[in-house]
Amino acid sequence: MASTPAPDPLDDRSALEGLLGPTEQLDEHLLRWTSTQLPGGQGGRSGRPYDPERHEAVYYHHDPPSGLRALIAVHSSVLGPALGGARWQPYEDVGEALTDVLRLSAAMTAKMAVSGLDCGGGKAVIIGDASAKTPEQLAAYGRFVERLGGRYVTGTDVGTTLDELPLIAAHTSRVVGMSPAGEVVKDTAEPTVRTVLHGMRASLEAVFGDGSLAGRRIVVIGVGKVGGEVARRAAAEGANVAVTDLYDEIAAPLASEIGAEHVALDGAYAQPCDVISPNALGGVLNASTIPELRCRIVCGGANNQLLRDPADADLLAERGIAYAPDYVVNAGGAILVGVDYATGSASPEDLLERVGATTLELLRVSDREGISTAEAALRSVDTRLASASDG
Ligand code: PHE
Repeated sequence: MASTPAPDPLDDRSALEGLLGPTEQLDEHLLRWTSTQLPGGQGGRSGRPYDPERHEAVYYHHDPPSGLRALIAVHSSVLGPALGGARWQPYEDVGEALTDVLRLSAAMTAKMAVSGLDCGGGKAVIIGDASAKTPEQLAAYGRFVERLGGRYVTGTDVGTTLDELPLIAAHTSRVVGMSPAGEVVKDTAEPTVRTVLHGMRASLEAVFGDGSLAGRRIVVIGVGKVGGEVARRAAAEGANVAVTDLYDEIAAPLASEIGAEHVALDGAYAQPCDVISPNALGGVLNASTIPELRCRIVCGGANNQLLRDPADADLLAERGIAYAPDYVVNAGGAILVGVDYATGSASPEDLLERVGATTLELLRVSDREGISTAEAALRSVDTRLASASDG
């Protein structure tokens, strides 16, 4: 495992200013850029209600005593408070961390909108080795979240775990899924597994006319909190499961536990199968992996699976592969915690159940209108955001 890169806050500041323009310094260790300062999006959605390249605010914090270096992006609070987990990863540099937090926070807005929740989208990334994080860093992260006064509410994501939330929550009340007494009462991974499986059954229904997982070959790529459980439940439903992960020591025991095949990560996308289920990091569906695919369906829990959204979805559509949009099928966690912040939403059970129907509907719209499922999903996000801004 790579060691935590040495903190270099001055370099971070100049790198960020190079990318985002001049900052506003809120205090010695806290920087902010707001929408009026952030450069406009370069992509094709500028001027649309949902523009993943326009954020309301970006914050950078460095805490010298603990060495924490973190970014928080608030993409949109048009529908409600910006919710999103904290991702802890050994990014090469602050620029790579920035790209990730901007993409991830925008995806949270889309996820909330498409799931019918009155919540906005935000995300945090912490630059560092997740296996070497300290309680002091978690505390400093909690103080960072608190400084934003509720503009962003945090939770877990890749590299952070439920048992760390109380350490964060000791310094801020802006943590999802906690009781007033500071106990973790909601896990976002479990409902995410449920909605990924709803999305998978809906996709199987659309492609084969039968939504059952039994007998289907499903390749699960990334078997952490979400992917591991997707594999376990798919196997329990009679699927012929293959698993793979960056870490063999995680995939191998799971494979023997559930009677799945353990395949190499290298070449996993080229496995002949019914479903490829990406459940780790983003950008995995791109111009080099898509031509290799030998599956009928892509449906998994990872955020930002398409390197270019929606352009890479067009490549999938051209190959006749049904793509279940990631932020539609991985919304379970966001739904479960989001209802606590959204007034007037339907019950979480109804919203969780609805994910299957939404996936099926997007696959049908895509078929009918000759657009990708990703484009169909973006249009539905636009519709919700537009009606919120009007009303
Ligand atoms: N990180 C998860 C996601 O991407 C779960 C989560 C949702 C965490 C909302 C916090 C807030 O959806």
